[in-house]
Amino acid sequence: MKQFKDKIAIVTGGGAGIGRSICEEMANAGAKVIVADINEENGKKVAEGIEKNGGKAEYKRVDVSSEIEVKKLIEEIETGYGRIDYIFNNAGIAIGGDARDIKLEQWKKVMDINYYGVLYGSLYAYQVMAKQGFGHIINTSSATGLMPQPGNSPYCASKHAVIGLSLSLRYEGADLGVKVSAICPGHVQTDIYRNMEVAKVPNEKMVASLPVKAMDTKEATSIILNGIIKNKDIIIFPKNVAFAWRLNR
Ligand code: NAI
Repeated sequence: MKQFKDKIAIVTGGGAGIGRSICEEMANAGAKVIVADINEENGKKVAEGIEKNGGKAEYKRVDVSSEIEVKKLIEEIETGYGRIDYIFNNAGIAIGGDARDIKLEQWKKVMDINYYGVLYGSLYAYQVMAKQGFGHIINTSSATGLMPQPGNSPYCASKHAVIGLSLSLRYEGADLGVKVSAICPGHVQTDIYRNMEVAKVPNEKMVASLPVKAMDTKEATSIILNGIIKNKDIIIFPKNVAFAWRLNR
């Protein structure tokens, strides 16, 4: 079933990992996908792969930490296609380690991409969607946006901020026809997960980040897209992460 037939969807961080899989699955389901990524080589590959398979996609280079670039991207898509149905503010990085060793610039860099990148994408898309009277903003937080994650404080803090932003906008946007959801994955098999400093922290020290098996991107994407169709506020998975979150409260 072409659940997303002819929908216009922007996916930041669409060049790899979860974003790539969302681009491919949305295109399979009929969407025209804008693969937005700072990595030109990967982003182009994803868009070309989708087109080769008969889907619709185009690559746009964007650094989400630049307000000007995100604004321009959203303006171009609105002007070019006349509307925006979905934006996945998904691009993210992780810098972790012992909090005493992390430089202030590193704390700020994580916020610039993981929080401000999501904020710019949310705010500019929100304006377009409020004007249209429809649209769905999907922001990638993390299970660690709901729980502490020792050894990964900058990342954890940025992901908490994404939850606060997303849920607040969700309530404000409801009367304007704008939906907002936050995605909270546990571990998904991507580069960000494999490179995480926190992966080196012994499990017994991990209050929140339970030793859950890392899910593959296809399975994660299927859960994400189902959650979006159901317009869930927070899409948290796998189940044992959701359980840990409840236990932590
Ligand atoms: P990934 O490293 O495979 O992909 C991230 C993508 O974002 C890359 O294509 C990269 O080029 C792009 N990117 C990085 N900085 C950018 C910038 N400034 N502007 C534009 N694009 C930029 O990582 P993954 O796992 O697919 O991450 C996607 C999102 O999911 C991130 O927000 C991450 O924090 C989140 N997440 C991932 C989890 C995991 O276990 N993989 C768990 C929880 C959340």
